[in-house]
Amino acid sequence: TIIPVILAGGSGTRLWPLSREAYPKQFLVLEGELSLLQKTCLRVGQLSPLGPLVITNEEYRFIVSEHLRQIGLTPSAVLLEPAARNTAAAIASAAIYARTIAEDPVLLVLPSDHDFSDPEVFLDAVDSAYHVAKSGKLVTFGVVPTRPETGFGYIRYKSTSELKQIEHFVEKPSLELAQRYVNSGDYLWNCGIFMFKASQYLGQLEQHAPDVLSACDRAVECSSRDLDFVRLEKKAFLSSPSISIDVAVMEKTDNAVVFEIAAGWCDIGSWDALRCILPADKNNNVLSESVLAKDCTNTLAISDSRLVVAVGLENIIVVNTVDALLVADQSRAQELKQVVGDIRQRG
Ligand code: GDD
Ligand code: MG
Repeated sequence: TIIPVILAGGSGTRLWPLSREAYPKQFLVLEGELSLLQKTCLRVGQLSPLGPLVITNEEYRFIVSEHLRQIGLTPSAVLLEPAARNTAAAIASAAIYARTIAEDPVLLVLPSDHDFSDPEVFLDAVDSAYHVAKSGKLVTFGVVPTRPETGFGYIRYKSTSELKQIEHFVEKPSLELAQRYVNSGDYLWNCGIFMFKASQYLGQLEQHAPDVLSACDRAVECSSRDLDFVRLEKKAFLSSPSISIDVAVMEKTDNAVVFEIAAGWCDIGSWDALRCILPADKNNNVLSESVLAKDCTNTLAISDSRLVVAVGLENIIVVNTVDALLVADQSRAQELKQVVGDIRQRG
Protein backbone atom coordinates (compact mmCIF):
# COMPACT_ATOMS: atom_id res chain seq x y z
CA THR A 1 0.00 0.00 0.00
CA ILE A 2 1.14 3.53 -0.80
CA ILE A 3 -0.12 6.51 1.15
CA PRO A 4 0.73 9.95 -0.24
CA VAL A 5 1.75 12.37 2.52
CA ILE A 6 1.33 15.96 1.44
CA LEU A 7 3.26 18.64 3.30
CA ALA A 8 1.20 21.81 3.28
CA GLY A 9 2.36 23.70 6.33
CA GLY A 10 5.06 26.00 5.00
CA SER A 11 4.69 29.76 5.02
CA GLY A 12 6.19 30.46 1.57
CA THR A 13 7.82 33.78 2.39
CA ARG A 14 9.80 33.96 -0.85
CA LEU A 15 6.60 34.56 -2.83
CA TRP A 16 5.60 37.59 -0.75
CA PRO A 17 3.36 39.60 -1.21
CA LEU A 18 1.13 37.12 -3.06
CA SER A 19 1.99 34.44 -0.53
CA ARG A 20 0.95 35.69 2.92
CA GLU A 21 1.12 34.17 6.37
CA ALA A 22 -2.67 33.83 6.33
CA TYR A 23 -2.68 32.38 2.80
CA PRO A 24 0.68 30.86 1.81
CA LYS A 25 1.78 29.86 -1.64
CA GLN A 26 0.63 26.22 -1.66
CA PHE A 27 -2.94 27.61 -1.80
CA LEU A 28 -2.31 30.08 -4.63
CA VAL A 29 -3.62 29.57 -8.15
CA LEU A 30 -0.60 30.72 -10.13
CA GLU A 31 -1.52 29.29 -13.50
CA GLY A 32 -4.69 27.63 -14.81
CA GLU A 33 -7.49 27.04 -12.33
CA LEU A 34 -6.03 24.85 -9.61
CA SER A 35 -3.92 25.70 -6.60
CA LEU A 36 -0.48 24.15 -6.16
CA LEU A 37 -1.92 21.95 -3.41
CA GLN A 38 -4.76 20.75 -5.64
CA LYS A 39 -2.35 19.97 -8.47
CA THR A 40 -0.14 18.00 -6.11
CA CYS A 41 -3.08 15.95 -4.83
CA LEU A 42 -4.37 15.21 -8.32
CA ARG A 43 -0.92 14.29 -9.65
CA VAL A 44 -0.64 11.35 -7.28
CA GLY A 45 -4.36 10.57 -6.97
CA GLN A 46 -4.12 7.44 -9.14
CA LEU A 47 -1.35 5.84 -7.12
CA SER A 48 -3.43 4.57 -4.27
CA PRO A 49 -6.98 3.67 -3.32
CA LEU A 50 -6.27 5.38 0.00
CA GLY A 51 -6.65 9.15 0.02
CA PRO A 52 -3.63 11.25 0.95
CA LEU A 53 -2.62 12.31 4.42
CA VAL A 54 -2.33 16.06 4.35
CA ILE A 55 -0.37 17.71 7.13
CA THR A 56 -0.70 21.41 7.76
CA ASN A 57 -0.95 24.11 10.39
CA GLU A 58 -4.30 24.20 12.19
CA GLU A 59 -4.74 27.76 10.96
CA TYR A 60 -5.04 26.47 7.40
CA ARG A 61 -7.57 23.71 8.09
CA PHE A 62 -10.51 25.36 6.36
CA ILE A 63 -8.47 26.38 3.31
CA VAL A 64 -7.19 22.82 2.96
CA SER A 65 -10.59 21.18 3.32
CA GLU A 66 -12.13 23.64 0.88
CA HIS A 67 -9.38 22.97 -1.70
CA LEU A 68 -9.84 19.21 -1.34
CA ARG A 69 -13.61 19.52 -1.57
CA GLN A 70 -13.32 21.53 -4.79
CA ILE A 71 -11.50 18.68 -6.50
CA GLY A 72 -13.75 16.01 -4.99
CA LEU A 73 -11.00 14.40 -2.94
CA THR A 74 -11.51 12.64 0.37
CA PRO A 75 -8.25 12.54 2.33
CA SER A 76 -7.34 9.71 4.69
CA ALA A 77 -7.00 12.53 7.20
CA VAL A 78 -5.83 16.11 7.55
CA LEU A 79 -3.33 16.27 10.40
CA LEU A 80 -3.21 19.61 12.17
CA GLU A 81 -0.08 21.00 13.77
CA PRO A 82 -0.52 23.57 16.57
CA ALA A 83 2.64 25.32 15.28
CA ALA A 84 5.29 24.54 12.71
CA ARG A 85 8.08 22.20 13.85
CA ASN A 86 9.54 21.70 10.38
CA THR A 87 9.40 18.63 8.16
CA ALA A 88 11.01 15.92 10.34
CA ALA A 89 8.16 16.21 12.87
CA ALA A 90 5.44 16.70 10.25
CA ILE A 91 6.50 13.53 8.44
CA ALA A 92 6.96 11.62 11.70
CA SER A 93 3.41 12.44 12.80
CA ALA A 94 2.09 11.37 9.40
CA ALA A 95 4.09 8.13 9.52
CA ILE A 96 2.84 7.27 13.01
CA TYR A 97 -0.74 8.04 12.01
CA ALA A 98 -0.42 6.11 8.73
CA ARG A 99 0.34 2.95 10.67
CA THR A 100 -3.11 3.20 12.25
CA ILE A 101 -4.79 2.99 8.83
CA ALA A 102 -2.63 0.40 7.04
CA GLU A 103 0.00 -2.14 7.98
CA ASP A 104 3.36 -0.44 7.61
CA PRO A 105 2.49 1.42 4.39
CA VAL A 106 5.00 2.92 1.98
CA LEU A 107 4.75 6.71 2.24
CA LEU A 108 5.26 9.01 -0.71
CA VAL A 109 6.11 12.35 0.88
CA LEU A 110 5.45 15.37 -1.32
CA PRO A 111 5.89 19.10 -0.85
CA SER A 112 2.81 20.97 -2.04
CA ASP A 113 4.61 23.64 -4.04
CA HIS A 114 6.37 21.75 -6.83
CA ASP A 115 5.58 21.45 -10.50
CA PHE A 116 6.49 18.90 -13.17
CA SER A 117 6.33 19.67 -16.86
CA ASP A 118 6.40 15.91 -17.45
CA PRO A 119 4.47 14.31 -14.57
CA GLU A 120 4.27 10.92 -16.30
CA VAL A 121 8.03 10.51 -16.05
CA PHE A 122 7.81 11.27 -12.32
CA LEU A 123 5.00 8.73 -11.83
CA ASP A 124 7.01 6.05 -13.66
CA ALA A 125 9.93 6.72 -11.31
CA VAL A 126 7.61 6.41 -8.31
CA ASP A 127 6.43 3.10 -9.71
CA SER A 128 9.98 1.74 -9.95
CA ALA A 129 10.92 3.20 -6.58
CA TYR A 130 8.05 1.47 -4.80
CA HIS A 131 9.81 -1.90 -4.60
CA VAL A 132 13.02 -0.29 -3.45
CA ALA A 133 11.17 1.52 -0.66
CA LYS A 134 9.28 -1.67 0.18
CA SER A 135 12.61 -3.47 0.61
CA GLY A 136 13.58 -1.03 3.37
CA LYS A 137 15.49 1.78 1.63
CA LEU A 138 14.88 5.48 2.05
CA VAL A 139 14.30 6.70 -1.48
CA THR A 140 14.66 10.27 -2.63
CA PHE A 141 14.43 11.76 -6.11
CA GLY A 142 17.14 13.87 -7.68
CA VAL A 143 17.70 16.08 -10.68
CA VAL A 144 20.82 17.32 -12.43
CA PRO A 145 21.66 20.76 -11.02
CA THR A 146 21.76 23.70 -13.42
CA ARG A 147 22.97 26.51 -11.16
CA PRO A 148 24.65 26.85 -7.73
CA GLU A 149 21.34 27.16 -5.88
CA THR A 150 21.91 27.43 -2.13
CA GLY A 151 18.30 26.69 -1.18
CA PHE A 152 18.48 22.98 -2.08
CA GLY A 153 20.03 19.79 -0.79
CA TYR A 154 22.90 18.22 -2.79
CA ILE A 155 23.43 14.49 -3.18
CA ARG A 156 26.73 12.88 -4.05
CA TYR A 157 26.03 9.51 -5.60
CA LYS A 158 27.70 6.30 -6.71
CA SER A 159 26.90 4.42 -9.93
CA THR A 160 25.47 5.56 -13.22
CA SER A 161 22.19 3.69 -13.32
CA GLU A 162 18.93 5.48 -12.64
CA LEU A 163 18.94 4.20 -9.07
CA LYS A 164 22.01 5.34 -7.14
CA GLN A 165 23.42 4.73 -3.70
CA ILE A 166 23.79 8.02 -1.79
CA GLU A 167 27.34 8.68 -0.67
CA HIS A 168 26.88 12.04 0.87
CA PHE A 169 23.94 14.38 1.43
CA VAL A 170 24.50 18.10 2.06
CA GLU A 171 21.52 20.30 2.90
CA LYS A 172 21.69 23.94 1.75
CA PRO A 173 25.45 24.36 1.24
CA SER A 174 27.25 27.70 0.99
CA LEU A 175 27.44 29.29 -2.46
CA GLU A 176 31.08 28.31 -2.75
CA LEU A 177 30.36 24.65 -2.03
CA ALA A 178 27.27 24.63 -4.24
CA GLN A 179 29.38 25.94 -7.11
CA ARG A 180 31.97 23.25 -6.53
CA TYR A 181 29.28 20.53 -6.46
CA VAL A 182 27.69 21.75 -9.69
CA ASN A 183 31.07 21.92 -11.46
CA SER A 184 32.08 18.44 -10.31
CA GLY A 185 29.18 16.71 -12.07
CA ASP A 186 29.00 14.21 -9.18
CA TYR A 187 25.97 15.70 -7.45
CA LEU A 188 22.22 15.86 -7.93
CA TRP A 189 19.77 18.30 -6.40
CA ASN A 190 17.48 16.73 -3.85
CA CYS A 191 13.88 17.24 -5.00
CA GLY A 192 12.56 16.98 -1.45
CA ILE A 193 10.24 14.10 -2.41
CA PHE A 194 10.73 10.94 -0.36
CA MET A 195 9.49 7.38 -0.40
CA PHE A 196 9.94 4.89 2.43
CA LYS A 197 8.11 2.49 4.69
CA ALA A 198 6.67 4.28 7.70
CA SER A 199 8.62 1.95 10.01
CA GLN A 200 11.88 2.66 8.17
CA TYR A 201 11.61 6.43 8.62
CA LEU A 202 10.58 6.09 12.26
CA GLY A 203 13.50 3.71 12.87
CA GLN A 204 15.89 6.29 11.43
CA LEU A 205 14.44 8.96 13.70
CA GLU A 206 14.88 6.71 16.69
CA GLN A 207 18.56 6.53 15.81
CA HIS A 208 19.26 10.10 14.69
CA ALA A 209 16.56 12.31 16.24
CA PRO A 210 14.86 10.46 19.10
CA ASP A 211 13.37 13.67 20.57
CA VAL A 212 11.36 14.23 17.40
CA LEU A 213 10.08 10.66 17.52
CA SER A 214 9.02 10.67 21.17
CA ALA A 215 7.27 14.05 20.84
CA CYS A 216 5.33 12.93 17.76
CA ASP A 217 4.48 9.54 19.26
CA ARG A 218 2.75 11.31 22.13
CA ALA A 219 1.21 13.98 19.90
CA VAL A 220 -0.50 11.32 17.77
CA GLU A 221 -1.39 9.09 20.70
CA CYS A 222 -3.15 11.97 22.47
CA SER A 223 -4.62 13.51 19.30
CA SER A 224 -8.33 14.11 18.81
CA ARG A 225 -10.22 13.38 15.62
CA ASP A 226 -13.00 15.62 14.38
CA LEU A 227 -14.40 14.69 10.93
CA ASP A 228 -11.31 14.47 8.67
CA PHE A 229 -9.20 16.55 11.02
CA VAL A 230 -6.71 15.00 13.41
CA ARG A 231 -5.54 17.58 15.90
CA LEU A 232 -2.08 16.68 17.19
CA GLU A 233 -1.77 17.14 20.93
CA LYS A 234 -0.29 20.57 21.46
CA LYS A 235 2.09 20.22 24.37
CA ALA A 236 3.67 17.04 23.04
CA PHE A 237 4.03 18.29 19.47
CA LEU A 238 5.53 21.60 20.55
CA SER A 239 8.16 19.73 22.53
CA SER A 240 9.64 18.40 19.27
CA PRO A 241 12.81 20.07 18.02
CA SER A 242 12.27 22.09 14.85
CA ILE A 243 14.42 20.35 12.27
CA SER A 244 14.02 19.30 8.64
CA ILE A 245 13.99 15.69 7.45
CA ASP A 246 17.04 16.58 5.38
CA VAL A 247 19.16 17.54 8.38
CA ALA A 248 17.63 15.09 10.86
CA VAL A 249 17.79 11.98 8.69
CA MET A 250 19.05 12.38 5.12
CA GLU A 251 22.42 13.87 6.06
CA LYS A 252 23.00 11.11 8.62
CA THR A 253 21.64 7.85 7.23
CA ASP A 254 23.63 5.34 5.21
CA ASN A 255 20.51 3.58 4.00
CA ALA A 256 19.33 6.02 1.31
CA VAL A 257 19.22 5.85 -2.47
CA VAL A 258 18.38 8.43 -5.09
CA PHE A 259 16.37 8.01 -8.27
CA GLU A 260 17.47 10.40 -10.96
CA ILE A 261 14.49 11.89 -12.77
CA ALA A 262 14.21 14.15 -15.80
CA ALA A 263 10.59 15.16 -15.41
CA GLY A 264 10.87 18.93 -15.69
CA TRP A 265 10.81 19.26 -11.90
CA CYS A 266 10.57 22.75 -10.50
CA ASP A 267 10.32 24.06 -6.94
CA ILE A 268 8.20 27.19 -7.10
CA GLY A 269 10.30 28.58 -4.33
CA SER A 270 10.85 32.15 -5.39
CA TRP A 271 9.69 34.72 -7.93
CA ASP A 272 12.30 33.79 -10.51
CA ALA A 273 11.14 30.14 -10.30
CA LEU A 274 7.70 31.23 -11.46
CA ARG A 275 9.24 31.33 -14.88
CA CYS A 276 8.97 27.54 -15.04
CA ILE A 277 5.17 27.66 -15.05
CA LEU A 278 4.31 31.01 -16.65
CA PRO A 279 5.07 31.76 -20.32
CA ALA A 280 7.50 34.55 -21.18
CA ASP A 281 7.30 36.95 -24.15
CA LYS A 282 10.12 37.36 -26.69
CA ASN A 283 12.03 39.71 -24.40
CA ASN A 284 11.80 37.17 -21.60
CA ASN A 285 9.21 39.17 -19.67
CA VAL A 286 6.57 37.41 -17.61
CA LEU A 287 3.61 39.76 -17.32
CA SER A 288 0.14 39.30 -15.95
CA GLU A 289 -2.93 40.61 -17.80
CA SER A 290 -3.17 43.85 -15.91
CA VAL A 291 0.40 44.87 -16.75
CA LEU A 292 1.29 47.12 -19.65
CA ALA A 293 4.99 46.98 -20.48
CA LYS A 294 7.09 49.00 -22.90
CA ASP A 295 10.75 48.27 -23.67
CA CYS A 296 11.17 45.89 -20.77
CA THR A 297 13.46 42.86 -20.71
CA ASN A 298 13.74 39.97 -18.31
CA THR A 299 11.10 41.52 -16.10
CA LEU A 300 8.48 39.73 -14.05
CA ALA A 301 5.47 41.95 -13.37
CA ILE A 302 2.30 40.66 -11.79
CA SER A 303 -0.68 42.59 -10.57
CA ASP A 304 -3.83 41.04 -9.19
CA SER A 305 -5.94 44.17 -9.49
CA ARG A 306 -4.71 47.62 -10.46
CA LEU A 307 -3.22 48.43 -13.82
CA VAL A 308 0.57 48.49 -13.68
CA VAL A 309 2.59 50.30 -16.33
CA ALA A 310 6.26 49.37 -16.65
CA VAL A 311 8.63 51.28 -18.88
CA GLY A 312 12.23 50.40 -19.67
CA LEU A 313 12.73 47.90 -16.85
CA GLU A 314 15.48 45.31 -16.90
CA ASN A 315 15.82 42.32 -14.55
CA ILE A 316 13.16 43.68 -12.20
CA ILE A 317 10.42 41.97 -10.24
CA VAL A 318 7.19 43.89 -9.59
CA VAL A 319 4.36 42.24 -7.70
CA ASN A 320 1.35 44.33 -6.89
CA THR A 321 -1.47 43.29 -4.53
CA VAL A 322 -4.28 45.19 -2.85
CA ASP A 323 -2.27 46.03 0.26
CA ALA A 324 1.38 45.51 -0.59
CA LEU A 325 3.76 46.15 -3.46
CA LEU A 326 7.10 44.46 -4.11
CA VAL A 327 9.77 46.01 -6.32
CA ALA A 328 13.03 44.06 -6.38
CA ASP A 329 16.09 43.31 -8.41
CA GLN A 330 15.79 39.87 -10.01
CA SER A 331 19.20 38.77 -8.71
CA ARG A 332 18.15 39.35 -5.11
CA ALA A 333 14.90 37.38 -5.10
CA GLN A 334 16.25 34.94 -2.48
CA GLU A 335 16.66 37.73 0.08
CA LEU A 336 12.90 38.10 0.41
CA LYS A 337 12.77 35.33 2.99
CA GLN A 338 14.92 37.40 5.33
CA VAL A 339 13.17 40.70 4.61
CA VAL A 340 9.68 39.27 5.08
CA GLY A 341 10.83 37.58 8.28
CA ASP A 342 11.88 41.01 9.54
CA ILE A 343 8.53 42.56 8.58
CA ARG A 344 6.67 39.81 10.44
CA GLN A 345 8.75 40.36 13.52
CA ARG A 346 7.94 44.02 13.55
CA GLY A 347 4.27 42.94 13.32
N1 GDD B 1 3.15 20.43 7.57
C1 GDD B 1 4.28 21.10 7.49
N2 GDD B 1 4.86 21.56 8.63
N3 GDD B 1 4.81 21.34 6.29
C2 GDD B 1 5.97 22.03 6.24
C3 GDD B 1 6.61 22.53 7.38
C4 GDD B 1 6.01 22.27 8.66
O1 GDD B 1 6.50 22.67 9.71
N4 GDD B 1 7.74 23.18 6.98
C5 GDD B 1 7.77 23.09 5.65
N5 GDD B 1 6.70 22.41 5.18
C6 GDD B 1 6.37 22.05 3.80
C7 GDD B 1 6.47 23.21 2.84
O2 GDD B 1 5.18 23.79 2.64
C8 GDD B 1 6.95 22.52 1.58
O3 GDD B 1 5.84 22.02 0.84
C9 GDD B 1 7.77 21.33 2.09
O4 GDD B 1 7.33 21.11 3.41
C10 GDD B 1 9.30 21.54 2.06
O5 GDD B 1 9.63 22.61 2.91
P1 GDD B 1 10.50 23.84 2.40
O6 GDD B 1 10.63 24.79 3.53
O7 GDD B 1 9.95 24.34 1.10
O8 GDD B 1 11.90 23.13 2.16
P2 GDD B 1 13.05 23.67 1.23
O9 GDD B 1 12.51 23.98 -0.13
O10 GDD B 1 13.73 24.79 1.94
O11 GDD B 1 14.04 22.42 1.13
C11 GDD B 1 13.58 21.12 0.80
O12 GDD B 1 13.19 21.03 -0.54
C12 GDD B 1 14.25 21.25 -1.52
C13 GDD B 1 13.67 21.08 -2.91
O13 GDD B 1 12.54 21.84 -3.08
C14 GDD B 1 14.75 20.14 1.10
O14 GDD B 1 14.26 18.82 1.01
C15 GDD B 1 15.91 20.33 0.12
O15 GDD B 1 16.89 19.33 0.32
C16 GDD B 1 15.38 20.24 -1.30
O16 GDD B 1 16.44 20.46 -2.24
MG1 MG C 1 10.63 24.36 -0.93
